[in-house]
Amino acid sequence: VTTPTVDVHLQPDDLAAALRTDVLDGLTSTPKELPPKYFYDDRGSRLFDEITRLPEYYPTRREREILDRCAGRIMEASGCDTMIELGSGTSEKTRLLLDAGVEAGSLRRFVPFDVSETTLRDAAAEIACEYPALDVHGVVGDFDHHLGLLPGGGRRLVAFLGGTIGNLTPSERKRFLAELVSGFEPGDGLLLGTDLVKDVGRLEAAYDDGAGVTAEFNRNVLLVVNDALGADFDPARFQHVAFFDLDNEWIEMRLRSRSTHVVRVPGCDDLRVAFEAGEEMRTEISAKFRRPGVESELNAVGLELTEWWTDSAGDFALSLSVMR
Ligand code: SAH
Ligand code: TRP
Repeated sequence: VTTPTVDVHLQPDDLAAALRTDVLDGLTSTPKELPPKYFYDDRGSRLFDEITRLPEYYPTRREREILDRCAGRIMEASGCDTMIELGSGTSEKTRLLLDAGVEAGSLRRFVPFDVSETTLRDAAAEIACEYPALDVHGVVGDFDHHLGLLPGGGRRLVAFLGGTIGNLTPSERKRFLAELVSGFEPGDGLLLGTDLVKDVGRLEAAYDDGAGVTAEFNRNVLLVVNDALGADFDPARFQHVAFFDLDNEWIEMRLRSRSTHVVRVPGCDDLRVAFEAGEEMRTEISAKFRRPGVESELNAVGLELTEWWTDSAGDFALSLSVMR
């Protein structure tokens, strides 16, 4: 059995310290807010995996359809020997790219990168077993802070799939892309998955499914805060809200307090947070894109869009861009 290398740039203590600061900031702002990267503890990662199989949640299936059709061309066009995957999760769809890269004989190294250590270790171990020809080198880190720690060398393709870039605000995206390309050499590429603007009914259903899995996923962030900071959030007191903001073209997820109540957060200097009945707290956005917007955000950091693929329904796009 091959054991992959895993670098840990994010110790549980760092995560707890960052969570403490972010929760304190978020819960004392108006309106209140909770930061999204904390969704993915072990339970959150399992719930997300369930979301990807829901009938309403089309992005995973659409992106897989594109990868099924285009993985060979993607790997050939990028010419990479190293593929780095940001927010890799279970790297399930990514196997289509690994298959194509191994078959072409060009891919040597795979670097999955995720904030969720358990998920990353499990995925890296499975992939190291399934792809003995690859050097699998996992990195536990936060792509808001640790992009500078990605391994260098070789011709690199960074894959950022699942539409996760849409979970960043426009200014966060700009900073993220600038930071990413600051480590790029000419010829390095970015394979970016972006969900596209479409019928509002379908968009909203994808983030508010009939079985209530997305609602559970959203409320799970409260349990993460309870675990890490000893808070006494009662998830049953919060209702999941998801709507498409037409001006910003993003899905916004919120938790709405069902009653007036006070939550204690011992790990934040014993903060007490008062919620009004009906008060809403933002937990996540998921931006939806159009080609001209994606292209100009890439161009703004010196990346040239070379390929744009969509699924047959035009729901989701994968773009390949290259550093000149
Ligand atoms: N790429 C997979 C998973 C998408 S879910 C897919 O397409 O299905 C988003 C993933 O990004 C989760 O695995 C989560 O743990 C990770 N993630 C979220 N915020 C992150 C951050 N700041 N740094 C690193 N990984 C992050
Ligand atoms: N990257 C996923 C997306 O934006 C994350 C996601 C899916 C998500 N469903 C969610 C985040 C529900 C929070 C709540 O599509």
